[in-house]
Amino acid sequence: MPLNSSIIFLTVPEENRVPRHIAIVMDGNGRWAQRQHRPRFWGHKRGVERVRSTVEGCIDLGVEALTLFAFSTENWKRPEEEVSFLMNLFISSLSREVKRLHKNGIRLRIIGETTQFPEKLQQSIVDAERLTENNSRLALNIAANYGGRWDITKATRHLCQQVAEGRLKPEEVTESLLQQQVSLGELPEPDLFIRTGGEQRVSNFLLWQMAYCEFYFTDLYWPEFDRTALEAAVASFGRRQRRFGHTGEQLVES
Ligand code: IPE
Ligand code: IPE
Ligand code: MG
Repeated sequence: MPLNSSIIFLTVPEENRVPRHIAIVMDGNGRWAQRQHRPRFWGHKRGVERVRSTVEGCIDLGVEALTLFAFSTENWKRPEEEVSFLMNLFISSLSREVKRLHKNGIRLRIIGETTQFPEKLQQSIVDAERLTENNSRLALNIAANYGGRWDITKATRHLCQQVAEGRLKPEEVTESLLQQQVSLGELPEPDLFIRTGGEQRVSNFLLWQMAYCEFYFTDLYWPEFDRTALEAAVASFGRRQRRFGHTGEQLVES
């Protein structure tokens, strides 16, 4: 029986399968702190430490890309002092971590509407991306002021502009053209989505990119998400049969 390429991909022994791209909603910092009668800020600070261990874990597991949701387009609705704490934490973490990321061969990208950030933060983002742009050990993407709807809208606007200028016909607008315009379009699509903090929702994360992603939810708060927890998520991914529309019978065992 002839095997097409998608069937060959699906017959890789499942327990050996590691996601190429993991996307994480790092949720639960505030509740984790409050549970210990500490201010929410404390949870955010501890959350940054988990970013470091998760990045290291992904490299060790052989993951190619990691996308972390740090601040959503909806998070501006939080109390002003929490928003400004998060901005300052982002600025200080970026300046503290960027050299280490570079040394470890990590390419850093920030996705989202960064033009709304303070000037100083925008400059740090440009500098960090430029410094790490040729690294290839792990593609680390931080979603900041990011929204899945914003992303699709931005991509659509870009294509509409081309149509308006007569460079593209409406009938030439395809999924693959849109794919090239959304954030992370050049990376493999996220194949494992993890959300900590017990909520089971997407909260406007990578709506377009996660069309065929496997979802994994854990009640652990983000500051509790350690190496063992990451490995449990990846092991769960490895046990799943990804059918991409095929029937289970079509997935020939190797
Ligand atoms: C996630 O933790 C971090 C951000 C959204 C910036 P939360 O701050 O949402 O923590 P909880 O959900 O209130 O516990
Ligand atoms: C989603 O978390 C955004 C980030 C983790 C940055 P939220 O805690 O803001 O999500 P909702 O509002 O509970 O859905
Ligand atoms: Mg939350």
